[in-house]
Amino acid sequence: MISKSSKIYVAGHKGMVGSACWRLLEKKGFKNLIGKSSNELDLKDQQVTKQFFKEEKPEVVIDAAAKVGGIWANNHYPYEFLMDNMLIQNNLISSSLKSDVKKFIFLGSSCIYPKMAPQPLKEECLLSGLLEPTNQWYAIAKISGVKLIEAIRTQFKKDYVALMPTNLYGPGDNYDLETSHVLPALLRKFHEAKQNNHAPVTIWGSGTPLREFMHVDDLAEAVVFSMENNLEESLYNVGSGEEITIKELALLIQEIIGHKGEIIWDKSKPNGTPRKLLDSAKFKNLGWESIVSLQNGIKMTYSNFIENSLS
Ligand SMILES: NC(=O)c1ccc[n+]([C@@H]2O[C@H](COP(=O)([O-])OP(=O)(O)OC[C@H]3O[C@@H](n4cnc5c(N)ncnc54)[C@H](OP(=O)(O)O)[C@@H]3O)[C@@H](O)[C@H]2O)c1
Repeated sequence: MISKSSKIYVAGHKGMVGSACWRLLEKKGFKNLIGKSSNELDLKDQQVTKQFFKEEKPEVVIDAAAKVGGIWANNHYPYEFLMDNMLIQNNLISSSLKSDVKKFIFLGSSCIYPKMAPQPLKEECLLSGLLEPTNQWYAIAKISGVKLIEAIRTQFKKDYVALMPTNLYGPGDNYDLETSHVLPALLRKFHEAKQNNHAPVTIWGSGTPLREFMHVDDLAEAVVFSMENNLEESLYNVGSGEEITIKELALLIQEIIGHKGEIIWDKSKPNGTPRKLLDSAKFKNLGWESIVSLQNGIKMTYSNFIENSLS
């Protein structure tokens, strides 16, 4: 049903996830891609979004547009995290339904699952308990997106799907130490410490929490896989299944960067949740697999970081 000339709109095509999807679609020979920055098309605005769909009539929509951020940003801007994300996804989903988009791929995050749900996290544990309070605003918006996709599949029998990726990293990541995730933050800290005569690097917590990471190119493969295949269900977890402690991650990044200084574990700072792993068996059983190893992925990401910091 989807061909190389199908019109594909990648919402958020300049972000880390959207740009990875765009690169892969181009590489695979899809020729009819559309992308707009938020300055050109503010997806919070229902009228302009409707008009855009009326004029462009995309056949596929990849929703990688969102207001994203860490604990600090969620705590300071709860209203925007809830409202902006609901507006963006509602406008995209309702315009897609109205203009008969064939395939819609909604991207959420593993924070939609309850804080105390059993690990690895299965899709069925959605709404089975309380959320982690620090990112509840973002999570509630994403849960409403997942439910909209489910409602459309149930009521209109359309092959719309919600993918819940694990922690991602790769080109285009956020390296701002106040708002970044753990992997890009460690990469920047070790790089700067090496430049600074191998100065010590201080890391929050004891290093014991376990986390799962996946290169963003693997997620892009999952998105294109979802676009090219008919899926039976509305919600799928997408993770590498590769778990690592924060301490092992720090040592791996230190080795790749070539930092020879000391690591100081600041145990007065919180560790966060002890383990966070997605159960991605349902999606893997369809035939997708994560192929970028953490070691290779970090090497590629570090090269990209260096290139960008030199340019
Ligand atoms: N990064 C991760 O580790 C991770 C993990 C799991 C899931 N995800 C999911 O993947 C999606 C994308 O995340 P990301 O990391 O790629 O974020 P990102 O790099 O911050 O990109 C977000 C994109 O959204 C666009 N956007 C924001 N507000 C907009 C608006 N009002 N109108 C139009 N476009 C708007 C931005 O466009 P402009 O730059 O033009 O403003 C940007 O291109 C999110 O739904 C997130 O939940 C990410």
